[in-house]
Amino acid sequence: MTDAGFDAWMGEVQARMEAVLARVMPAAHIAPARLHEAMRYAALGGGKRVRPLLAFAAGELTAADSVRVETVACAVECVHVYSLAHDDLPCMDDDVLRRGKPTVHVEYDEATALLVGDALQTLAFQLLAEHRLADEPNVQLEMVKLLAIAAGSRGMAGGQQIDLESTGKTLALPELEFMHIHKTGALIRAAVLIGAACGKPLDERERAGLDRYAKAVGLAFQVVDDLLDYEGSTATLGKTAGKDSKQGKPTYVSALGAPRARELAQELRGDAHAALATLGLRGVRLASLADFVVLRKF
Ligand code: IPE
Ligand code: IPE
Ligand code: MG
Ligand code: MG
Ligand code: MG
Repeated sequence: MTDAGFDAWMGEVQARMEAVLARVMPAAHIAPARLHEAMRYAALGGGKRVRPLLAFAAGELTAADSVRVETVACAVECVHVYSLAHDDLPCMDDDVLRRGKPTVHVEYDEATALLVGDALQTLAFQLLAEHRLADEPNVQLEMVKLLAIAAGSRGMAGGQQIDLESTGKTLALPELEFMHIHKTGALIRAAVLIGAACGKPLDERERAGLDRYAKAVGLAFQVVDDLLDYEGSTATLGKTAGKDSKQGKPTYVSALGAPRARELAQELRGDAHAALATLGLRGVRLASLADFVVLRKF
C-alpha cells in the first residue's frame, strides 16, 4: 500500500495543531503573564506532533468530525508538552535543550516549569470537558478516563517513576518493556483510541486491531527514542544527544545493543502493520505513521 499524500497531510495536521494550541492557551499578556508566556513557549513552535497525527489518522478511520479530533489531539499534546517540561527538570533528566530551544526551566525558572506542566495538564481536561467530542456522552466520559489513566500513576507518571528509580541500574527486558510501555506507550495509545472515539463506533475486532496497533507504535516510539539518543546528533534532535548512557539510563540500546534494538523497532513496525489488517485500506494513514515513527531521524 502506498500513501502518496502522506507528507502533505502531515504538514497540514502539524500546522493545524499549531493554530489550535495557540488558540486554546491564554494570550501571553493575560495575567499571570509569565505563566502564560511560558506555557506558549513550551507548546508552540516545535515538536513533531506525533500524538495529534495519530489522533487525526484514527479519527479519519471512524469518519470523525475533524473539529472534534483537533480538540482531543490538542488535549493529548498538552499532556505531552507538560510531560516534557517536567521530564527536563533538574530533579528528573536535567536537560537544557528541547525542541531546539532552552528547556522551560532554563528559559524561565524551575517553579515556572513546574506550573507550566500543572496548567497544561488541567487545560487538557478542560478541553475534553467543554466541547462536544462524541455522539454519546458516555463515550466522551470514556475519553476523559482514557487520558486520565494514560497520564497517571498507571501510565506516563508511573513510567517516569520507574525511569527515575532505574537510573544507574540494569533492567531485565520485561522490566524495560514495562517502563517504556508506561512512560511513553500509554499516552500514544490514548491518542489513537481517543481520536477514534470521536467518530463512528468500531466493531470489536476493529477496535482490538486498533489497540494492538497503538500498543506496538507506542513501544516502538520509545525504542526509537532510545536509538536516536545514541545515534543522533544534538543538532538534528533538538535535544542533547548521548545523555542516556551518560546518566546511566537503562534503554533498549544499553540492554540489546543498537543493531538488535533497531531490529526490534522494525519488528514492532511489522506488528503495527499486521494489527491494521482488519481495517483494510482505511488503515493506510496509520500504517504510514508507524513507518514514520520507526524511520524518523529526529
Ligand atoms: C519525546 O517525545 C519524549 C518521549 C516520550 C520519548 P517526542 O519525540 O514526541 O517529542 P516532540 O513532541 O516531537 O518534541
Ligand atoms: C520521556 O522519555 C518520556 C516522557 C514521559 C516525557 P525520555 O526522557 O527518553 O524523553 P527525552 O529523550 O528526554 O525526549
Ligand atoms: Mg526521561
Ligand atoms: Mg528526558
Ligand atoms: Mg529519550
